[in-house]
Amino acid sequence: MCGIIGCAGRNEDTLDVLLSGLEGLEYRGYDSAGVALSNGSVEICKREGTIERLQAAVDRSLGGTDAVGIGHTRWSTHGPPSDENSHPHTDCTGEVAVVHNGIIENYSALKEELQESGHEFTSDTDSEVVPHLVEDALSEGVSPEEAFRRAVSRVEGSYALAAVLADSEAVLATRNDSPLVLGVGEEAAYLASDVPAFLEYTDRVVYLEDGEFARLESGSWSVSDADGEVVDKSISRVEWDAEETAKSGYDHYMLKEIHEQPRALRKCLRGRVDERTGSVDVEALVGLSPSSVQFVACGTSYHAALYGAQLLREEGIHAHAFLASEYATAPAPVDDGTLVVGITQSGETADTLSALREAHRQNVETLAVTNVVGSTVSRECDRTLFIRAGPEIGVAASKTFSSQAIAANLLALALSGRASRNQELIGALRDLPSQVQAILDDSRAEEVASKYVDSPAYFFIGRNEHGPVALEGALKLKEISYKHAEGFAAGELKHGPLALVTEETPVFAMVTGDGEAATKTIGNVKEVEARDAPVVAVTDGVSDVGRYAEDVLRVPETHPRLAPVLANVQLQLVSYFVAKELGRSIDKPRNLAKSVTVE
Ligand code: M6R
Repeated sequence: MCGIIGCAGRNEDTLDVLLSGLEGLEYRGYDSAGVALSNGSVEICKREGTIERLQAAVDRSLGGTDAVGIGHTRWSTHGPPSDENSHPHTDCTGEVAVVHNGIIENYSALKEELQESGHEFTSDTDSEVVPHLVEDALSEGVSPEEAFRRAVSRVEGSYALAAVLADSEAVLATRNDSPLVLGVGEEAAYLASDVPAFLEYTDRVVYLEDGEFARLESGSWSVSDADGEVVDKSISRVEWDAEETAKSGYDHYMLKEIHEQPRALRKCLRGRVDERTGSVDVEALVGLSPSSVQFVACGTSYHAALYGAQLLREEGIHAHAFLASEYATAPAPVDDGTLVVGITQSGETADTLSALREAHRQNVETLAVTNVVGSTVSRECDRTLFIRAGPEIGVAASKTFSSQAIAANLLALALSGRASRNQELIGALRDLPSQVQAILDDSRAEEVASKYVDSPAYFFIGRNEHGPVALEGALKLKEISYKHAEGFAAGELKHGPLALVTEETPVFAMVTGDGEAATKTIGNVKEVEARDAPVVAVTDGVSDVGRYAEDVLRVPETHPRLAPVLANVQLQLVSYFVAKELGRSIDKPRNLAKSVTVE
């Protein structure tokens, strides 16, 4: 999705800050980029395509010294990717430049009105109405800040907006339903859609709320409300450091993030569980005792939600996972004891926020499970359980899925009240990070990926807790390799999908332990084998599934609840190496965005 960066600073090379900030936002997904600098006049450079294209085109003296500036990565919604549709957009005079994330719902009416009064538009975007509205307000003789405020008051929809004006030494910004965070440096102030954009300059941040306006000047900042009244804001410190957002020698962020899982899992658990007593010490979960739990989430987070719902059902709690996009318009019935849990890595996914807002409308208690401190979800929900995975830059979620799964275990442990069972699980959780490390050290995934890289389609099957991982394995493979992949509950194969299985389609089967689920899945594996399809068994070797498999990816033995987390690491590696061999854009797959802030 689109990304915004802004900078106002003494002794800063503003253009450099903007360009490197845009690189820090690349992971969100984009198709064009641009910058605007103001220093008595407004200068703009914008290009369809990559940030490298923009860097090659930009005049390094743009804005001169002591300029203030804004930058943008665009992910097209209104109008195709083109130089004209790239942000920043300007008014008729070229003295007001604006960048926008989100969707302006009433832009058609505003555009018509503005055109009738003589404004000329140069793009197809909804965003371009904003600089023209500012221009109109300026013509009434008000200050740049007031003109920006008046323009914003005409706009309906979701937005993060930032502007520079020839007539002002400030960057002006506001938000509604779209993230925007300020960075507070020694002699400079920054703003961005996400912290990694300015993390190399400062880790001190101020989270802007909907309806608030920010003003960034050379080294100072202030926040006010819609009426211009100053709002007291506190500065928080983000725990991430710049190193965590660097590639650190790995070919791709995704591979780095897969390898960060042992550390991420340790951080997720640290100080939160006590193996001796079987108890969980997580402030966000204290006193929770819901009669039923409804999970809402999208994509990979939805798979974590499916897994979480299974854990809770095993604890005897009514639990169900819903696709947030469905729940938002068709919510499930709730009662006083219902807890709605939103799982979202970014904390900004529009569908998930919308589902949670629906829950709020029904006065139901909400819990956010997220990775991002200060994210919208963490500020809107009654409680927040942070997964502590550290920044995830690759569009494909990897380490955050594992950490979400562990957070779901914490929730299940907190609601279970069965100390002895808990002790056993907590012991297994303690060992999990080193077991993930063992897989990373020893995986045959690259070899398996290479063997099947030319397959026309891939299938993933798993039963019970392995079901969500079958879906996740398929999602990961399709999103980064662009190959057809589908995941099924193992028992469903014979109810239709088996028709697609041929000797050319590998079937990845997750089988751990030797219980009933394993035995039944082995039955499904035999059905596949009988159709001459190659089976790749992801297994701990406890059952004899290896006898029916063409290839085996081993995982260490663990508690049955945690086996899917280990199996998934093998599947992440397979997806990564298939995509790598095909030369795909692994960290920024086509058409996808890291943070999906539109419904
Ligand atoms: O930030 P969220 O966890 O709410 O994002 C939800 C999905 O958009 C996300 O998981 C998406 O499916 C990933 N690209 C999957 O790798």
